[in-house]
Amino acid sequence: MRIEPASPKVGALVTGLDMTRMTDAEWHQLYQAWLDHQVLVVREQNFTIPQFLAVAERFGKLTPHRVRRTRDAEYPALTRMGVNTRKPDGKVDQAVFARGQGWHTDGPWEVRGVSKATQLYGLEIPSIGGDTWFANMYASHDALPEALRQRLEGVQAEYVYGGRERLGVDLLDPDDRDAPPVLWPVLRTHPETGRRSLYFNPYHFLRFTGMDEAEGNALAEELKARMIQPDAEYHHKWHKHDYVVWDNRCSNHAAAGGYPIDQPRIHWRATILE
Ligand SMILES: [Fe+2]
Repeated sequence: MRIEPASPKVGALVTGLDMTRMTDAEWHQLYQAWLDHQVLVVREQNFTIPQFLAVAERFGKLTPHRVRRTRDAEYPALTRMGVNTRKPDGKVDQAVFARGQGWHTDGPWEVRGVSKATQLYGLEIPSIGGDTWFANMYASHDALPEALRQRLEGVQAEYVYGGRERLGVDLLDPDDRDAPPVLWPVLRTHPETGRRSLYFNPYHFLRFTGMDEAEGNALAEELKARMIQPDAEYHHKWHKHDYVVWDNRCSNHAAAGGYPIDQPRIHWRATILE
């Protein structure tokens, strides 16, 4: 197994490893690299669905995604990304096609536990576009001006699926649309590394608790402008059979889009709670 940085400040690239046959020593090395780099890319994996889900369970608690309609019928913990991109009338369903665009973390709205990680496995990759971008949120924290960092101490944000505009809420079943907001501190301490990160997610953001609307909106705009440090990004160009797992507690990501609608882009996805 070889582990090397995927970019100077976020991501690690792993080659020469079959994740279905890892030794304990390899697993510990891999998990530590994941904590150190926030994102792992492991090339050339050949997973069956049970193997893909078994790998997810090594990282934490496997949980079916709130969006029920893209769950696999036999394995509900498996979400199929990039299928059913067209409506019955043949038109592109933007809620599915554009899913995951815009910087965000996964699951700040999750009421069942802490959204620890997301893993994806690439099955069909378009010839152009369709990259996934990652950003190191420890770096974003460390780059905050001191006065702003002090102001953010103790500030909490509320999140619901799709945020104020309820983006993508059409993907949810009616029962799942009214889940209560979930609160997160804007400055978050990682339970395993002890490092502090900026935790902000404009996509699912509702409001800052106890802050008047004008002040909250201004603060949200300021965090949006500061949350991605250009020198702490990694843009992942997918290869077929890449396995990627990221830590939602200390990184943000975005689907870049920009691929032809008539080319398939299909991934298996699993959601992992602490
Ligand atoms: Fe996402």
